[in-house]
Amino acid sequence: MTFAAKITGTGSTFPSKVVTNADLSDRLARLGVETNDQWIRERTGIHQRRFVDLSNDRKPNAALGAAAAQNALEMAGKTAKDLDQIIVGTCSPDTLLPSTACWIQQSIGATNAWAMDINAACSGFVYGVVTACQFIASGQSRTVLVIGTEVLHPHLDWNDRSSCILFGDGAGAAIIERVPEDSQSRIVSWQLSSDGQFGNLLYIPTYDVDAQGRVDKGGPDTHLVMNGREIFKVAVRTLTGFAQKTLLQKGLTVEDVDWFIPHQANQRILEAVAHRLNMPWERVLINVDRYGNTSAATIPTILDEAVRDGRIQEGQLLLLDAFGAGFTYGAMLIRW
Ligand code: ACO
Repeated sequence: MTFAAKITGTGSTFPSKVVTNADLSDRLARLGVETNDQWIRERTGIHQRRFVDLSNDRKPNAALGAAAAQNALEMAGKTAKDLDQIIVGTCSPDTLLPSTACWIQQSIGATNAWAMDINAACSGFVYGVVTACQFIASGQSRTVLVIGTEVLHPHLDWNDRSSCILFGDGAGAAIIERVPEDSQSRIVSWQLSSDGQFGNLLYIPTYDVDAQGRVDKGGPDTHLVMNGREIFKVAVRTLTGFAQKTLLQKGLTVEDVDWFIPHQANQRILEAVAHRLNMPWERVLINVDRYGNTSAATIPTILDEAVRDGRIQEGQLLLLDAFGAGFTYGAMLIRW
């Protein structure tokens, strides 16, 4: 017997510290790097982002994820003890081991769950939900917590003004539950893909080795490296193609979609994708203006915002569309 899966609760959380473009420009100016609010807004749509206070917490990524998880559990009417499985999409864990999922399990007291991380960069949440669906479909899991959580700002290269302006910290979560296979409200379909040939366009090395063979863990060569122009082109092409393919597979069109929820890399990318899809801008959910690119957290945080403010209503069709370093791709249709 197989089962369908449904999102029954969502949650999100952001650090309290707001960093505006003006704040960032001041910080970079002290390093001799020039940028300004107008350039950042016009090229990216970003007005501000949030950064965790690293002096307060040694495990900020897990702390954000746990807070988002608590919100999602509350909405679903579940407790942590009800969870069979915890899947965390993150590319900025507090520790290389153990996983962020295990830290969160301990923090929320999910003693009946097993826990693991998925690193699919910005596609991590969609990859996580698809994985949850497989365990639910096979009958092995009944209630799964999927989280996208990131603390990216410590990994940024403050001398690279084209990348350090883009990213922020935050976390979003969803509770995925088993429902009967003929349920109307459910996760309808998905597609995943990856293409390692683009690995060099966006990466974060874990350590550097100097000429004498000594490991340098904190050096400048361990920061995020990005080829923005190339990413822009690949992102527009693949986000558009993936959305079209996912709709076509179910005999649906853009007109059937109530809300398009793309990964929030940059507003100009999203405008180009919406234009190519003929997707009216009013149906595109956006939070990159307020939070920047929070990688695996972008999709679950906007989802939570739109569920809580009532934009997303029962019976509506949502199209999620993610791409991330790797490159990884993931699109999903959800009947709410
Ligand atoms: N402030 C001021 N000037 C800047 C800044 C800045 N922050 N950054 C770059 N510039 C300058 C450049 O030095 C260049 O100057 P020059 O012509 O004198 O050499 C000029 O602006 C134009 O640079 P471009 O790189 O051509 O700028 P572009 O319009 O392509 O914008 C950007 C750069 C925003 C990075 C864009 O390429 C982009 O959005 N790419 C996608 C990257 C992305 O979204 N990455 C997110 C991670 S991917 C993911 O989420 C999976």
